[in-house]
Amino acid sequence: MKMNRRGFLATGAALALAPSLALPEAGNKILRIAPARQHLVGASYPATEVWAYNGQVPGPQLRLRQGERLRIEVENALGVGTTVHWHGIRVPNAMDGVPNVTQPRIAANGGRFTYGFELPDAGTFWYHPHLGSAEQVARGLYGALIVEERDAPAVDRDLVWVLSDWRLDGEARIRADFGNPMDASHAGRIGNTVTVNGVLRDGFAVRAGERIRLRLINASTARVYSLSFEGHEPWVIALDAQPVAPHWFGRVVLGPGMRADLILDCVAPPGSRHRVIDGFYRQRAYELLKLEYSDEKPLRESFEPAPRLRANPLAQPDEARAERHRIVFGGGMMGAMPSQREHRGLFWTVNGKPVPEHDHAPLLTLGRGKSYVIEFVNETSWHHPIHLHGHVFRLVSRNGKEVLPRQFADTLLMDPDSRAQIAFVADNPGDWMLHCHVLEHQASGMMALVRVA
Ligand code: C2O
Ligand code: CU
Repeated sequence: MKMNRRGFLATGAALALAPSLALPEAGNKILRIAPARQHLVGASYPATEVWAYNGQVPGPQLRLRQGERLRIEVENALGVGTTVHWHGIRVPNAMDGVPNVTQPRIAANGGRFTYGFELPDAGTFWYHPHLGSAEQVARGLYGALIVEERDAPAVDRDLVWVLSDWRLDGEARIRADFGNPMDASHAGRIGNTVTVNGVLRDGFAVRAGERIRLRLINASTARVYSLSFEGHEPWVIALDAQPVAPHWFGRVVLGPGMRADLILDCVAPPGSRHRVIDGFYRQRAYELLKLEYSDEKPLRESFEPAPRLRANPLAQPDEARAERHRIVFGGGMMGAMPSQREHRGLFWTVNGKPVPEHDHAPLLTLGRGKSYVIEFVNETSWHHPIHLHGHVFRLVSRNGKEVLPRQFADTLLMDPDSRAQIAFVADNPGDWMLHCHVLEHQASGMMALVRVA
């Protein structure tokens, strides 16, 4: 497994200055899903056959205002069924895009489905399939869903970087080794080429003195990112769309499914270049791209403190009186694999049971409107980003240590052999998935259903 994106850049300057990536497409109401061709790695390689929403990877950036209603007609021209899930949005259950649970699959070769729901929370969200997603996402099906605050802070540019990786062969074709037991039982399908907004990039053009709101989305099926910005100290202002006190701890870590909103103040001089490094896998740090400053004179000489975003209208769980549960994630290589007889390609377990994709009874039934504290226990030797649908939870503790202030999230990256407690109000009725967002893990057992009734 070669993790150095330079493998593809060996032939030289694949891409010059990246164009501005801000392409809001408000009012986009149709998503057509079909194969497409896209130059992922530069002109000296053939275009890659991908699966795409409206012919592009990532799919169109959907941008609406908090409180608005989104209506999207989906048409599936793929040869396989699919659905669309709106990751992190507190949708009504019927709009959640989970096959067999909230809707029938959108049939291959022309199936349709219309999604419509209100957007209760502002922030950075994304959409992706929830059927065969380990393959469908790896082939390019994902897009950003941006919900703007009614009083969004002033910035010069509001941009999205959708981070994703690909497993390509020497001709820039996607390797079709999906679902192989090696990936499924280890870290998932880690690719060999990392793209930002669907293109392997050398540089990203900025101007001295500008303030950028940079929204990061990890759309990879398995890769975790830990980004640092040489010469810069961007402020983290939201995680998983939920506002946090502006801070910077030297890097921002994003497991699959997770998002971060940064305020990137371009403090360096005109004409300078600065590397953005992904250092999550220690021996394999690489340069994601360079911030490339134009020669223009600085837009401003000093910056205001980072803005603090207004909290979303989330119910506050009553931790003291909450009902408590414990969910144990197990399996994987070097762990207790499910027994041979029952595993059938299922390598992971939730409370001791491997669960085939979208085929199960509720693991927990929660009372509508009640508060819960749930302890997650990761008994495996692997990282798992655990995602709960339909709700936003807050992190109470990690490994027995209280987390203050409480941080809201919809996806929690768990370290190997670790524990965490989350709390939330079960205020959204329906059947909701709780699963690992390493999509190969999800497909091979690490998935459960939580009922709110
Ligand atoms: Cu982003 Cu269940 O998914
Ligand atoms: Cu996992």
